[in-house]
Amino acid sequence: MTIQLNDMGLLKTRAFINGQWVDADSGETFAVTNPATGELLAEVASVGAVETRRAIEAAETAMQDWKARPAAERAQFLKRWYALVMDNQQDLAKLMTLEQGKVLAESVGEVAYGASFIEWFAEEARRVYGDVLSLPQTDRRGVVIKQPVGVVGAITPWNFPNAMITRKAAPALAVGCGIVLKPASETPLSALALAELADRAGLPAGLFSVVPGRSSREIGGELTSNPTVKKVTFTGSTPVGKTLMKQCADTVKRTSMELGGNAPVIIFDDADLDQAIQGALISKFRNSGQTCICANRILVQDSIYDTFMEKFVAAVKDFRIGNGLDSESTHGPVVTAKAAQDIDAMVKSAVEDGAQVLVGGQIDDQGECFYQPTILGNVNDQMRVFREEIFGPVAPVFRFSTEAQAIAMANDTEFGLASYLYTRDIGRVWRVSEGIEYGMVGVNEVAISADVIPFGGVKESGQGREGSKYGLDDYLEVKYICMGGLNG
Ligand code: SIN
Repeated sequence: MTIQLNDMGLLKTRAFINGQWVDADSGETFAVTNPATGELLAEVASVGAVETRRAIEAAETAMQDWKARPAAERAQFLKRWYALVMDNQQDLAKLMTLEQGKVLAESVGEVAYGASFIEWFAEEARRVYGDVLSLPQTDRRGVVIKQPVGVVGAITPWNFPNAMITRKAAPALAVGCGIVLKPASETPLSALALAELADRAGLPAGLFSVVPGRSSREIGGELTSNPTVKKVTFTGSTPVGKTLMKQCADTVKRTSMELGGNAPVIIFDDADLDQAIQGALISKFRNSGQTCICANRILVQDSIYDTFMEKFVAAVKDFRIGNGLDSESTHGPVVTAKAAQDIDAMVKSAVEDGAQVLVGGQIDDQGECFYQPTILGNVNDQMRVFREEIFGPVAPVFRFSTEAQAIAMANDTEFGLASYLYTRDIGRVWRVSEGIEYGMVGVNEVAISADVIPFGGVKESGQGREGSKYGLDDYLEVKYICMGGLNG
């Protein structure tokens, strides 16, 4: 298939290293395909450890001048990058839908969401503050300054091919770091288009390199072992995050990990039911369920369970899955045929253990990447759909009777990223929000993401926060300077 964009200069298939578009040293490429049609979209350069090392060295060199510049100057670059991303919103969204599958309206929304991090950190760049300490000795003062952590290695996922990059690159660049990015091999085109726009915005060569490649192990191995890299930031699954953390231990790198989730949506019998159903639909089926903060377990109080189910099932029956470029489609495919098979295996395992399929429940005739939006009833806490991250359009709905039981069920997982609750009782809002072990809680609201919020999890969902005023700290080191001899 030929990709048609308004600006064909955004379609890049080579790696971007030290300000140059380059092929892999080996000449190797890998295929990027459209999950909706199976068609080949592009062959992209597949680089390895050697090219990654070159990118790291270039970042280290480039950041020496970059970090010495006034923050306002770095902010100017970010503002130009932000404007270019928004000017090219439609092309970036189309590329995203083609390689990832999400419906175009969601891609358009993600480009704006991704751009918002660039704008936010352009503003925050000038707000890196230190402290003056009063020491026990009268002839001394303590000063605390913050400095860029050093070269950052970033590994980003396919589910948000734009925003997960800008949420890492913008704060890193804002404080004066250089960054080497390994995008997911399913969605390198969005990453390379972002690099092209950063280049057009005037980013000095070497500060932001993109190293696409088939072998995550090779590129990730270099990013996690190279002593010049001082910090690794990753968004993806918990098992991969654990491996990266172990690899980073040898050179004692800083890490930020945004890992898997198992979000509960707790719906109490005093909730505004229609609002809760709407929230559960949005949270569960956004990006066809391929979001770390997606509703994974919907917990509904006994007395409203049947009414909830009736309305929830009716709403899902109205969904229309199809090619994300088709304006009639409400939901697109999942990212690969393997992903669809994994989702199907989880549904089948629940059914074998007694779950009831109320709608959907299989791979759709439209193609190997299309999984039908599915609701499961008669589920229990021993099933994989309770214990594991589903990462697909499957909604298991569990019953609970008391507030204490709901909190216990919500916490019965090793994950702790996002959580949601629906109730009109203000006391319950506080009790439950404080009682559940999650990094983020949405109260009567599931659209919790934004540039200004500290996004991140607890337990095995990760560490560190992205976005918000806290997001800069992940790219800064604290340095204490003791100034003595002040008494003359
Ligand atoms: C994610 O799935 O990790 C990102 C979701 C978001 O930022 O809203």
